[in-house]
Amino acid sequence: MDSFIIKGGTPLVGTVPISGAKNAALPILAATILTDEPVYLSNVPQLQDISTMLELLGGMGATFERSSEAAYTELKAQTSSIFRYQAPYELVKTMRASILVLGPLLARFGKAQVSFPGGCAIGSRPVDLHLKGLQALGADITVEGGYIHAAVPDKLRGAQFTFDVVSVTGTENVMMAAVLAEGTTVIHNAACEPEVVDLANFLITLGAQIRGAGTPHLTIEGVTRLGGGEYRVMMDRIEAGTFLAAGAISGGDLTITDVEPHAMNVVLEKFAAMGVELSVSANQIRLNTKGKRLKAVDITTAPFPGFPTDMQAQFVAMNAVAKGRSTVVETIFENRFMHVQELARMGADIKLQGNSAYIAGVAKLTGAPVMATDLRASASLVLAALVAEGETHIDRIYHIDRGYERIELKLNDVGAHIQRQK
Ligand code: EPZ
Repeated sequence: MDSFIIKGGTPLVGTVPISGAKNAALPILAATILTDEPVYLSNVPQLQDISTMLELLGGMGATFERSSEAAYTELKAQTSSIFRYQAPYELVKTMRASILVLGPLLARFGKAQVSFPGGCAIGSRPVDLHLKGLQALGADITVEGGYIHAAVPDKLRGAQFTFDVVSVTGTENVMMAAVLAEGTTVIHNAACEPEVVDLANFLITLGAQIRGAGTPHLTIEGVTRLGGGEYRVMMDRIEAGTFLAAGAISGGDLTITDVEPHAMNVVLEKFAAMGVELSVSANQIRLNTKGKRLKAVDITTAPFPGFPTDMQAQFVAMNAVAKGRSTVVETIFENRFMHVQELARMGADIKLQGNSAYIAGVAKLTGAPVMATDLRASASLVLAALVAEGETHIDRIYHIDRGYERIELKLNDVGAHIQRQK
């Protein structure tokens, strides 16, 4: 099991390129099921979760031509050869986002068996709203033997559906199914995340008729079939925020490139409130701490355009060494403070009460052996290790490989001292 050994204390200085968004590439890859024509994707991030999605689709019979043997940054996806409609337990248990094949399989083939996704470290992660939304479009859905069995008697039909809770992949699943349904679907209380918009834009490139992406009300006019096309996946705003946090926590001067700042407004406001100097251009962001200690900021996570839950752990790490006290409230997931006890092992002063973390910034953290528990928690441990005195040993970093492309190489390129140990 891989681990990182990180020697802290060096301010990060330089430029980091940001990769494609994991949470846009995953639904877009699932959406290739919806057409029998070839689709050309670019800016696909090289991540464990993407490899898992490719394996899942490949197991159904889809084929992918890569840009090169080593990488699949560019991909030609062909799903006309799909002959199996199942997402098996072995793959779904490693990646919950496998549920994203359910809507497209139903829409294209009228049937699907998807292993019921379990919870994960950050919460129970129910999929009840996915199923209710697909049932509203006419799907028969039963759950037995640990599998979701879904079928459509004849064709999916457009319907009105309101999400009780804003769900990113729930919105994506129902939107993908609605694209080939008969008639009009209106989704209320839809997720507005940029990744949902990216999926909608991809589907529109293939000929789908979708209005209102990025707002809580999505209208989809069903079409009989989709064509092929090419599409560039949007940048990963969470990777971008994580690298800005690395520059901030280390007292450095870091520029990130290939970014879309408009997708990061609330996060950039929080960085500014911490006292860093931000220079924002069309596709670059420079964060300069000017060697000053960060100021603590309060955070409350919320669906987009609120503060993203996927950046919460990274801001807890920064607040842990910032000047002053802060409160971080996690409103999306019920167990997304697993990083707190690990940060405490490094000297952080954080009290947990319900869904709130009360943080008193300390002057310094010290390196210690810690354990990654989930994707973003592991990112926060890397951030803390960058500023901690001495060496930090982070175990189970397979979590971080799920969502960050070559993180240690990108960070070492700007002055970090991270060694990956097999
Ligand atoms: C997506 O997860 C992201 N994953 C998550 O990123 C992200 O944290 C999350 O959205 C919130 O922004 C992908 O896009 C692949 P939700 P998702 O459905 O869709 C409840 C990362 O680190 N809910 O928006 O699974 C749920 O319990 C990952 O990259 C139901 O009750 O999240 C939660 O409280 C982690 N019933 C809330 O909605 C449902 O059927 C939001 O969850 C579905 C969700």
